[in-house]
Amino acid sequence: ASTTEVDVSKIASGQAIKTSFRKQPLFVRNLTPKEIAEANAVDVGSLRDPQTLAERTKPGKENWLITLGVCTHLGCVPLGAGEGENKGPFGGYFCPCHGSAYDTAARIRQGPAPKNLVVPDYNFTSDTTVLVG
Ligand code: FES
Repeated sequence: ASTTEVDVSKIASGQAIKTSFRKQPLFVRNLTPKEIAEANAVDVGSLRDPQTLAERTKPGKENWLITLGVCTHLGCVPLGAGEGENKGPFGGYFCPCHGSAYDTAARIRQGPAPKNLVVPDYNFTSDTTVLVG
């Protein structure tokens, strides 16, 4: 199918899961209030790919960060979706291939990747169900 339904009811605050969408890794993350505050504290103008957390999430659902799990450098799968994995120096995701580090809005902060992790088209069809694609 060209769309993917994700049940987010079991993803606790601070957790992220790795699933798939159109044969690519998909990260679904439930940001903590602290992670949201960290993302919102960044000077957006200083970013390589300037976007606010609000632009990368849905209104009223700012805690749900949904992105492809595909590094925008050369396409490796970053770490950080899953318990105990390396979230990198900016607390989001870390690509072990060449050291790209993403923040808690999955924005590129360090390393060779040119762009933020891609936010696919999606909508909440209920409080706990996301339809991606
Ligand atoms: Fe991720 Fe190169 S593919 S840093």
